[in-house]
Amino acid sequence: MSKPNNLNTKIFLDGGIPEETKEVIELLGFLDGQTTNPTLITKHPSFLACQAKGEKCTEEDGWKYYREIVTEISPLVEKGSVSIEVYADHNTEAEEMVSKGLELFKWIPNAHVKLPITHEGLKAAETLVGKGIRVNMTLCFSQDQAAAVYSATKGAKKGDVFVSPFVGRLDDRGENGMSLIRNILEMYKSGDSHVEVLVASVRNMDHFLRSLQLKADIVTSPLSIYKLWSESGMKIPEENYVYDNGALTNILYKELDLSKDWQEFNIKHELTDKGIDRFSQDWNALINK
Ligand code: E4P
Repeated sequence: MSKPNNLNTKIFLDGGIPEETKEVIELLGFLDGQTTNPTLITKHPSFLACQAKGEKCTEEDGWKYYREIVTEISPLVEKGSVSIEVYADHNTEAEEMVSKGLELFKWIPNAHVKLPITHEGLKAAETLVGKGIRVNMTLCFSQDQAAAVYSATKGAKKGDVFVSPFVGRLDDRGENGMSLIRNILEMYKSGDSHVEVLVASVRNMDHFLRSLQLKADIVTSPLSIYKLWSESGMKIPEENYVYDNGALTNILYKELDLSKDWQEFNIKHELTDKGIDRFSQDWNALINK
């Protein structure tokens, strides 16, 4: 199979195991990039081996394994991107994220450094982008957060900044995650396009197809979705495809001024806080700090 001509969205794999990357490339004939996160990475056999021995890895080993994993993935998506996430809990300060981000960025030639959309994460992004570092701003659950990402990273080149709205986790609490994607894409139309919208937390084929229909810049999905997509002959949704949001409540569009300073947007979101808890707990469960 090869890339469909009418595909306007970059296709990323969401995962932490290089064998899966190879499998997707085999299935689709191409892959534009990969996203990882602490939860996905700690599913890799290197981490599980420590766990099987009833031990925790040292922090040094944890980062060593993470580096080995992305070093293996990087050349498989040579012209694309691999997102590597900094460790962040509620006490992690911007300075720490900046120094870790600078280190992670040097691991491979095609890295995007993942940072949470919190006050400290945005502060770190502002500094990193100023140093020419590519970033992927994660745990996005609101249009305000996407506006703050836009504003904090002004001046960056197109493709150097991703914002990752998590559609599945919004659906989980009854809100239509795909309506947030539509809203952010609409809001960014008035901007300079330096931020690319990366649809994350994709749980089903409809999330994937709707992302293509909306012409989101990037969609990242697990291997299971690409198996289904390849079985369907890599179908692209027609103009008349209707996304069925069932009983989910649509998130309403807000008029936001992208020329405002990032600090002026209301970036607080309960799911961002919960997401930070989950990622840091999954990492700490296997790492001895
Ligand atoms: C990718 O960048 C995200 O971390 C990932 O899609 C989150 O997915 P989940 O909500 O299924 O954990």
